[in-house]
Amino acid sequence: MNFRTIIEPFRIKSVESVKFTRREDREAALREAGYNVFRLRAEDVLIDLLTDSGTGAMSAAQWGALMQGDESYAGSRSFYRFESVVRDLTGFRHIIPTHQGRAAERILFHTILRPGLVVPNNNHFEPTRANIEVEACEARDLVIPEGRVPALVHPFKGNVDLAALERTLEADGDRIPLVMVTITNNSGGGQPVSLENLRGVRALCDRYRKPLFLDACRFAENAYFVKLREAGQSGRTPKAIAQEMFSLADGCTMSAKKDGLANIGGFLAMNDDAWAEAARNLLILTEGFPTYGGLAGYDLEAIARGLEEVVEEPYLRYRIRSTEYLGDKLTAAGVPSIRPSGGHAIYLDARALLPHVPPLQYPGIALVNALYVEAGIRGVEIGTVMFGLRPDGTESPGAMDLVRLAIPRRVYTQSHIDYVAEGVIEVARTKDRLRGYRIASAPKMLRHFTAQFEPL
Ligand code: F0G
Repeated sequence: MNFRTIIEPFRIKSVESVKFTRREDREAALREAGYNVFRLRAEDVLIDLLTDSGTGAMSAAQWGALMQGDESYAGSRSFYRFESVVRDLTGFRHIIPTHQGRAAERILFHTILRPGLVVPNNNHFEPTRANIEVEACEARDLVIPEGRVPALVHPFKGNVDLAALERTLEADGDRIPLVMVTITNNSGGGQPVSLENLRGVRALCDRYRKPLFLDACRFAENAYFVKLREAGQSGRTPKAIAQEMFSLADGCTMSAKKDGLANIGGFLAMNDDAWAEAARNLLILTEGFPTYGGLAGYDLEAIARGLEEVVEEPYLRYRIRSTEYLGDKLTAAGVPSIRPSGGHAIYLDARALLPHVPPLQYPGIALVNALYVEAGIRGVEIGTVMFGLRPDGTESPGAMDLVRLAIPRRVYTQSHIDYVAEGVIEVARTKDRLRGYRIASAPKMLRHFTAQFEPL
C-alpha cells in the first residue's frame, strides 16, 4: 500500500492505565526522591522514558510461548529452542544464557581480563565501562570525531575511528585482549555502525590477531539503519544484514531486554572453546547451570520468539520512524538534540539548551527534573553525573550533557509521543527559569542511580 502514514504494526489486546498527577504532587515526589528520578515510584510517572530496557510490550505470541516454558534444571527444551534461534542469527558456536546484558559482560571480562589491560570500543555504556574498570583495566572510547558533535549529521555516527583503533593496536596491542563495538552506540546517541566500518574493524583485528566482540543490545535497529542508509543494502532483509554483522565478529554480549523484546534476559556467545569453558564455569558459580543461566525456561521462550519478531521489517520500519518522528518535531521547534535521531531514543542536548547552567551544576539533571515536574515525563541524564566521576574519585565535565528520552518498544502510541513533544517544547520555552543542582550524597561508583541532589 502506498499511503504515507506509518502505523503501529500491531493492535492492542491488553492495556495498563497511567496515573495523572498534579504538579504539586510531582514537586513533592521529586523532593522526596532527592531530586533523582531513579528514586521516584514509577506509578507517579505519566510517560516513562527512563529506559528502553526491559520495558517493552511482549506480543501475544510471546505470552503464549511462556506457557511452553520447560522448567527442567538441565537440558530443557526451552534452552534448545533459544540456542537454535540465537545460533541461526549469530552463527556463534557457544551460546550462554545470562540474566541480563551486564551479567554477560561481567562473566566475559572477569574471564579474560587481568589488571592493566585495555578494551577499545566505539563508546562503552556505563555498566560495561564499570565492569572493565572493576577489573583494574581501561575502557577506551574510539568513536569517530563526528560521533562527539551532537548537532552534526552523519549516517553512521557510531562508527569506530579506524585510524585511532590502528594506533591503539600498534601502541598497546600487547595489553588488548579483544576489541568491542557497540551496535547501536547507546552512549553516543543510539547511532548506528555501518557494515563497511565493521569490516574495517574486522580487518584490523585480523591484522593484529585480536578477537572482535559486539555489544549487540540493539543489533536489529542497527541492521535497519544499515538497510536505510548504506549503499547497496536496501534490498536485503534486516535479518540478513544482522547475520552479516555477527559473522564479522568472534562473539557478542547481549541484553535481551532491548532487541530481544523481552522483559529480562541476555546472553554471551562466542566461538572460542577455551574462553567459553571458563565462562560457563563462572556462570555456574554465579548465575546458574549453562542451560538456564539465571533465567526461567519461560524467559528463554520469550526471548527466542522476541528475536524472531524484532527483525521483522514492519516492526523495524515503525520503530525507527516513530523515534525519528519525535526527533523531527523537537528539531522543528528549535530544541537541540543529537542529530540524526537515534534508533531507541532522542538525546536532548542539555548543555546547548541551558548554557547558563555549567556542567558541574548538572544541566542534564536540571532538564530531567523540569520535564518530570512540568509534564510527568521521566527521562535520564547521560552526562556529567553519569560519566563525570573518574576512577580516582575526582570529577570533571562529561563529554556531553544529554538527556535521553528512551522509547520502550511497542508501548506508547503516536498521541503519547505528541504529548511528549509538547511537554519538551514547553520546558524549552521556559528554560531560562531552570537552575542547576549540587550533589548532596553519592556512592563512589555508578552514582547516577542513587545520588541525591539539592537545587541551587
Ligand atoms: N550495553 C549497552 C549498550 C546497554 O545499553 C546496556 C543497558 C547494557 C550493555 C547492559 O545491559 O541492562 O541488560 O544489563 N542499557 C540500559 C539503558 C540499562 O538504559 O540503556 P543490561
